[in-house]
Amino acid sequence: MKRAKISIIGAGNVGATSAHWAAAKELGDVVLVDIPQIDGVPQGKALDLSEAAPIEDYDARITGATSYDATKDSDVVIITAGLARKPGMSRDDLLLRNTEIVKSVSQQVAAASPNSVLVVVSNPLDAMVYVAHKASGFPAHRVVGMAGVLDTARYRSFIAAELDVSVEDVQALLMGGHGDDMVPLPRYTSVGGIPLPELMAADKIEAIVKRTRSGGAEIVNLLKTGSAYYAPSAAAVQMTEAIIRDKKRVLPCAAYCDGEYGVGGYFVGVPVKLGTRGVEKVIEVKLTADERKLFEASVQHVKDLIAAVKL
Ligand code: NAI
Ligand code: 2OP
Repeated sequence: MKRAKISIIGAGNVGATSAHWAAAKELGDVVLVDIPQIDGVPQGKALDLSEAAPIEDYDARITGATSYDATKDSDVVIITAGLARKPGMSRDDLLLRNTEIVKSVSQQVAAASPNSVLVVVSNPLDAMVYVAHKASGFPAHRVVGMAGVLDTARYRSFIAAELDVSVEDVQALLMGGHGDDMVPLPRYTSVGGIPLPELMAADKIEAIVKRTRSGGAEIVNLLKTGSAYYAPSAAAVQMTEAIIRDKKRVLPCAAYCDGEYGVGGYFVGVPVKLGTRGVEKVIEVKLTADERKLFEASVQHVKDLIAAVKL
């Protein structure tokens, strides 16, 4: 059977760690790409990961490059290229610089791998998915943004720690943009099938929701020289696995809404079915008036961001 091919653009913290998770899960061959100015770095990281394979027992060809030739005919391309947040910097500050980077990357990826599915990670996420969609010319279902899987993972890990239960049993949904106004939904959060509000006091839930919303900044403030990468890369690779193995996972992703949830023509965080074709369905759930208000405020922020994008 032909091995799948995964290219990862940006061989920095998120990119290289994504390569590590993808190889360890034997999702396919992995190509790490970065800019010519740091020629040697993607190759060196790829070689180092290849040399770990006999210890960790994974079969995957891992290569590094500074040109897109090596990415030709990839099945999935994870885009992590760009600048990361530093302390005091919001995701939105990254908008202008990362627009240029993601635009150029997406054009080159589309030329080399016209049938691939793009998993966008670069920030500000909701705007960068839009940029990747426009610049690649790909149909919207083959462009998807990673944020909800990370944000729900943070939320789920905080809930599991508070209740002292396994993270495996905490299921959750979170919607909206990847900003401080993202919308975790306690009503759609359960622990072993039990709705969260039955198990945790409202003020505790509220504190966890608040911590989740600033989960990215919490890590930036601790690291001081960059932003989170272990959980973000694990999230991008979970989405990649769903696509490559056609798992049809139901995951919160930044997907193109064409009227769903009343959103016309924007990528925002919603539950989707993720399989070989990319986003195979946007799943609509009922929201209360309060939840809808929060969701709409978050969508408005996404719209404001996109209005500032100059392509
Ligand atoms: P990093 O600085 O460690 O790596 C970024 C890499 O991109 C660098 O190696 C850089 O040389 C490369 N790069 C820059 N321009 C490029 C180009 N034109 N072509 C190819 N590569 C290029 O940053 P890190 O931590 O890996 O984060 C990457 C991006 O992901 C940032 O924008 C960050 O804000 C975002 N991010 C998004 C998350 C999300 O939830 N969506 C979570 C974590 C990070
Ligand atoms: C995060 O949430 C920086 O967006 C990134 O960790």
